[in-house]
Amino acid sequence: MTDKAQASLLERYRRLAEISRNLASTVDLNILLDRITEAAAHVSGSEAASILLYDENQGQLYFESATNLDEPLMRGLIVPVEGSIAGWIVTNGKPVIIDDTQSDPRHFSQVGEATNVTTNSLLGVPLIAKDKVIGALEAINKINGAFTQDDQEILMDLGAQAAVAIENARLFQQSDLIAEMVHELRTPLASLRTASHLLLRKDVSQDQLAKVVNIIDNETTRLINMTTSFLDLARLESGRIPFNSELFDPTGLLQECIGMMKNKAAEKNLRLNLYIPNELPKIKADQDKIKQVVLNLISNAVNYNKPSGTITVSGHRQQNELVISVNDTGPGIRQADMVHLFDKFYRSQATEASVQGTGLGLAICKKIVEAHDGYIDVQSEIGIGTTFSVHLPIKDS
Ligand SMILES: Nc1ncnc2c1ncn2[C@@H]1O[C@H](COP(=O)(O)OP(=O)(O)OP(=O)(O)O)[C@@H](O)[C@H]1O
Ligand SMILES: [Mg+2]
Repeated sequence: MTDKAQASLLERYRRLAEISRNLASTVDLNILLDRITEAAAHVSGSEAASILLYDENQGQLYFESATNLDEPLMRGLIVPVEGSIAGWIVTNGKPVIIDDTQSDPRHFSQVGEATNVTTNSLLGVPLIAKDKVIGALEAINKINGAFTQDDQEILMDLGAQAAVAIENARLFQQSDLIAEMVHELRTPLASLRTASHLLLRKDVSQDQLAKVVNIIDNETTRLINMTTSFLDLARLESGRIPFNSELFDPTGLLQECIGMMKNKAAEKNLRLNLYIPNELPKIKADQDKIKQVVLNLISNAVNYNKPSGTITVSGHRQQNELVISVNDTGPGIRQADMVHLFDKFYRSQATEASVQGTGLGLAICKKIVEAHDGYIDVQSEIGIGTTFSVHLPIKDS
């Protein structure tokens, strides 16, 4: 190695040490991923870099972050484990250097097509945390010459630190969720304590007693609902609960949901209709989870409706999607609330006081639908009503 090359390598290791310190202190996963890709491109002397993380639950790789590329277009892009270089890295747990990606049979060309970036040379390393491969870090297009063993070593070093930092950030996210959950438990618990203090007093009238018991009943129901939502969300976020995918007829499922919510709607004097204009295609999905989504949406349509209003649940096919919509004649949702609707614990101020809830229903719906490769959208008009639509892909097998 020439003196110059040696100096440059030393300089790169010095940079790597600096980056490592920086990574260890970043707990925001998105910022962390961006920093890792930026560092990867830098220390390996390449045009761009990207991170793909492996989702055990789905058995798929997802693009999470990339430099020089159109982020919104890339993020969440699925890359097959079989038939991609990243998949090879993750399956084998080994690094790879490829001088001409276009002629490598493992190359997954759709990413290039989607992003207009041509990958020529590539250096990829596995991201390994606690002996488990959690993804792949790829540097793309060496600026001068070809990728070397030195490049590979330095990227392996960065990958090892990055993997630990990613795991830590994920754990931190989880502990954040726990903190928020515990915080939410405080209100009903405080009500229960007030109620029990009242019960301990000797001078409580029969009338007051009935009220206090009513409060206890309400608050315990609320606590039970909350803990169920917490558990659902925590399980979905951890990705550890496998989905039970089966082929089923969505019409039956929608009828069942209507049956389950009939009384709740009638109690509030609301009409609940089902509208299925044409025969629906069967879909492959986790029936219980999809039922949970539809029930959550109907429950919102009941809670946030006007007196004597209507709820219409409908199902139809739209190209290769099954669309399930829940429409209500409620107050509608303001634009400012729209962007936060699916955030954990978000409740709009407009309804917070009049309706009880935890603000997790829609966050859970979104997680479930996205885990099925689908999406939810919402249309709303103030004073007229709101429609939530769940789009699920129709798969052949
Ligand atoms: N159909 C609707 N019409 C008007 N506002 C709605 C509707 N659905 C949801 N919202 C608003 O979005 C917020 C979030 O809904 P989400 O279902 O996530 O939580 P929640 O209903 O408050 O509580 P829970 O966790 O018990 O479902 C609600 O608090 C409400 O302000
Ligand atoms: Mg809700």
